Amino acid sequence: MDKRVVRAASQFFQTLETDPVDWREVLSELLLHSSFIHHHSSISLHWGDARYLIQQIPDNSMDIVFHDPFSSQHCPELWTVDFFQQLYRVIKPDGVLLTYSSSLPVRGAMRAAGFVIGETHPGHQMGDGTIAAKKLDDLLFPIIGNVDERRSIPYRDPHLCATSKTILRNRQEAIEQ
Ligand SMILES: C[S@@+](CC[C@H](N)C(=O)[O-])C[C@H]1O[C@@H](n2cnc3c(N)ncnc32)[C@H](O)[C@@H]1O
Repeated sequence: MDKRVVRAASQFFQTLETDPVDWREVLSELLLHSSFIHHHSSISLHWGDARYLIQQIPDNSMDIVFHDPFSSQHCPELWTVDFFQQLYRVIKPDGVLLTYSSSLPVRGAMRAAGFVIGETHPGHQMGDGTIAAKKLDDLLFPIIGNVDERRSIPYRDPHLCATSKTILRNRQEAIEQ
């Protein structure tokens, strides 16, 4: 969405001696050509609003999604039931979605979109994240049992184009009903 992020990373990212590529070169190439090819691997960068771009991605085509938006208070549009439904659609039957967030509305949105969810690393000092899958068998630490329905009320964005302000306000109204 924001070329400045990739430009800054292409200038300042630190490559480790053990890394297989120079990440500054990779990022500069992505900035210029939106793709990078190295031996048998490739990276493609898609510029724009992920809510629109994801609609062009075929069903059952992704093994792993690393979901790393800003927090749900700042960027609720990428944490809605409707966006997770799109992620569910593009992820393969044995694929997974990983994120740093463990917030209840985020987990509620994942569940409402059809995912089963689990902890990534219970008790980790950096805090826990969430792994979402299509089958319970694919989770090492599944979260099952009762949930706090009220605190888990998810964000919604049925047309995938609402502003963050609207999404936050609508959830607040749903809580107060
Ligand atoms: C927390 S940063 C993480 C970026 C990257 N994963 C990293 O580690 O550098 C979140 C990124 O999401 C982008 N972003 C925010 N809203 C977006 C949207 N609707 N569609 C696509 N990207 C978006 C921001 O521009 C920002 O670069």
